[in-house]
Amino acid sequence: MQLFQLRVSAALALLLCSLAAGQVSQCAPADSPRLRFVAQLSVNGCALFVHDTGASDGPHLAVEPLMCVTDSLRGIVPRFDFITQQLYFSVPVLMRDAGMLAEAQRQLRDLSPRSVRFATVTNISVSANNRSSVRVLSFLWTPDEPVATLRLGFKRIVFKNNSSKFSRPKILQESLPLRHFQSVYTQLKRSDDFGSSPQEALEKVKISAFIIANGSCHEVQSRVMLQNDSMFDLDLHRQRFLPLPTCRQLKFIRTVKLENCSARVHQTLDIEGHFLIEPLLCHNVSSLSSESVRYDYSRDMHYLKLDLVLQDEATRDAVRTQLADLSPRSVDFMRLWTAERSVSSSLSARFEVGPLMASADWRSAQVRLLCRTLTDCRDLRTAVLAEPADLWRHVQWRVKSLVAEQCLSKSSQIDSSWRMKASEDAVSCSSLKSCAKLHSATDQRTAVFQMLPDGRWFVKIQQRLTGRVSFQRNWTEYETGFGDGTDFWIGLSAIHSLSQGGATLRVEMKLWSGSELHAEYAGFQVGDASTGYRMTYREMLRDRSSVSIDALKTQRGMRFSTMDKENGSGLCSSTPGKGGWWFKNCYKANPNGRFPSRERRNYGYMIWYSGSTIVSLREVRLMLQI
Ligand SMILES: *[C@@H]1O[C@H](CO)[C@@H](O)[C@H](O)[C@H]1NC(C)=O
Ligand SMILES: *[C@@H]1O[C@H](CO)[C@@H](O)[C@H](O)[C@H]1NC(C)=O
Ligand SMILES: *[C@@H]1O[C@H](CO)[C@@H](O)[C@H](O)[C@H]1NC(C)=O
Ligand SMILES: *[C@@H]1O[C@H](CO)[C@@H](O)[C@H](O)[C@H]1NC(C)=O
Ligand SMILES: *[C@@H]1O[C@H](CO)[C@@H](O)[C@H](O)[C@H]1NC(C)=O
Ligand SMILES: *[C@@H]1O[C@H](CO)[C@@H](O)[C@H](O)[C@H]1NC(C)=O
Ligand SMILES: *[C@@H]1O[C@H](CO)[C@@H](O)[C@H](O)[C@H]1NC(C)=O
Ligand SMILES: *[C@@H]1O[C@H](CO)[C@@H](O)[C@H](O)[C@H]1NC(C)=O
Ligand SMILES: *[C@@H]1O[C@H](CO)[C@@H](O)[C@H](O)[C@H]1NC(C)=O
Ligand SMILES: *[C@@H]1O[C@H](CO)[C@@H](O)[C@H](O)[C@H]1NC(C)=O
Repeated sequence: MQLFQLRVSAALALLLCSLAAGQVSQCAPADSPRLRFVAQLSVNGCALFVHDTGASDGPHLAVEPLMCVTDSLRGIVPRFDFITQQLYFSVPVLMRDAGMLAEAQRQLRDLSPRSVRFATVTNISVSANNRSSVRVLSFLWTPDEPVATLRLGFKRIVFKNNSSKFSRPKILQESLPLRHFQSVYTQLKRSDDFGSSPQEALEKVKISAFIIANGSCHEVQSRVMLQNDSMFDLDLHRQRFLPLPTCRQLKFIRTVKLENCSARVHQTLDIEGHFLIEPLLCHNVSSLSSESVRYDYSRDMHYLKLDLVLQDEATRDAVRTQLADLSPRSVDFMRLWTAERSVSSSLSARFEVGPLMASADWRSAQVRLLCRTLTDCRDLRTAVLAEPADLWRHVQWRVKSLVAEQCLSKSSQIDSSWRMKASEDAVSCSSLKSCAKLHSATDQRTAVFQMLPDGRWFVKIQQRLTGRVSFQRNWTEYETGFGDGTDFWIGLSAIHSLSQGGATLRVEMKLWSGSELHAEYAGFQVGDASTGYRMTYREMLRDRSSVSIDALKTQRGMRFSTMDKENGSGLCSSTPGKGGWWFKNCYKANPNGRFPSRERRNYGYMIWYSGSTIVSLREVRLMLQI
């Protein structure tokens, strides 16, 4: 990718790059065109840097994104992230504004530009001076959006009252638990860094990025600026934080069913008619638009954004209506105190979902599923839309409410762990997984799908239990599949479709001694016909396998071979076993080899390499997780 090459060379030349915005940088390869700084404008009080792309038919002008906090974007309020347990300020930053661009065009008329456009921005990183108490927690922006979100946190600093001039403030903690909120808040007002002006805090924050226009590259290192460089009142002192509620004894009353989720309701024992709803964590599926697939510049990864509603008026009203029989005097939400989350590795394997990022405040939470590529994220979005419940089977929350935290010693502690669900409709066979549910009622031996005790679903792609089906087949048959209910190969084209994007492969083996072995592989994938059904995988999952040796290792990356089409190395298929496989040097795994009538440790038969030796298989099954 051209862009990537630019970035790599850019990274190499980073040290040479100029610090000041507006100077030609070294970030482009020596022979590539450079952007030439031509003007700095002030548009509606925001500074705007303009560059010439150097085109012969120009001038074509490229405008840096604004990176400006305008008056209308005020409203920076302290918030608390319950998941990272960090106090933060969410600062909206204007990046691309059509109105301001039009104004810039007007101001640039003297230069008679042929075009004036925003430059493309890539690889934004944001950091703060490490001596400052300001920390940059994240910077989120999708290039099509006008506004980015900068999250600033603060270290907890103790100012030593020491006569020595050289004594430095001591940083106590990198993140700030809520209980320190008051003291931090008081300190912030005194802090040299924060001072009386948020401008000073923002000055400690440095943004660096590469801007690219028509193949020209330019590194910028700038600051978030305030409109008109005006003083900015953060409203810190006007924000009052309510004291933590006093301990309440609670009694669980009932679960109230809402349209797409359910809410647990408790009654307080000390105030009559007062009810509290546990934080909801309901996901509004219809909010999942194409804009939910976003790009995180600081991680250089795409992610799928999910917004969760923790509390809203509509829900409160709905719950109140359903509690009518108890004549409630008031219905409130509990406050979220801590929330932990995890994403099951089966989802990770299927969608390459990285660590789950999440943040929550009192009203809402945002979950970001890092899915690496744009395509992966789009697939994930499609899958979530098709089967919302499926996602929530994999994402698990563990939530403690604030009321509970206050009452740890009392019986009313709420420490629930549950999985989110969409409405439990009748199962329609609309997806593999729901079909799997329907089929699960059938005989395990002939069922196409199988559920493991841990709740994961697999589709069988190969199974050999009786030996009554011959696996000595030609290419066409291995491609389309063959067999009956107990002994079968579903076919390479089906395996290709099922494994697209990488799936978890599970191999289950029964030995002649009666003992069983299994191995799991993450990111297993079989290419299409044009690749010769090439097989790859990411890794053997050792903690999910009872074997310690990766028997597929030498076969990774091989094309499929059958006796009439040897595409491996060594004539492994046309020799005695005659089964098809991703052969390379025959030896280590051959689940499609001849079905043995007694223990046979010979590579022509059904075997698997288990370390010191090959083991003869009595039964074998290959499955892909769905
Ligand atoms: C982004 O820039 C940083 C330095 O600012 C560099 O370390 C990193 O490698 C760059 N990433 C890419 C993908 O170019
Ligand atoms: C900022 O400047 C613009 C024009 O440059 C002006 O209209 C606006 O009122 C100014 N805002 C403040 C807060 O001074
Ligand atoms: C893009 O760059 C090429 C070569 O440098 C130039 O010929 C062309 O006019 C440029 N186009 C624009 C829109 O800047
Ligand atoms: C702050 O950054 C400077 C230069 O990048 C480095 O030398 C120094 O060790 C850093 N200080 C801390 C406390 O990380
Ligand atoms: C430091 O201590 C002196 C004397 O105890 C006191 O007057 C002063 O206010 C203290 N300074 C701060 C910043 O707490
Ligand atoms: C002040 O700082 C000096 C040197 O860092 C240290 O020896 C002394 O104990 C400090 N005094 C107080 C009151 O913290
Ligand atoms: C419930 O989910 C459906 C689709 O799954 C959606 O159309 C509807 O808007 C949702 N209702 C609420 C209140 O979120
Ligand atoms: C769900 O999201 C859609 C689209 O963003 C929005 O119109 C609707 O009001 C939301 N419903 C709820 C209950 O928040
Ligand atoms: C493959 O085997 C099937 C069944 O025996 C046979 O009908 C078909 O002609 C064979 N194809 C090739 C290319 O040999
Ligand atoms: C695959 O095998 C067939 C038949 O043996 C042969 O014609 C073809 O060239 C092989 N392809 C590769 C890439 O080895």
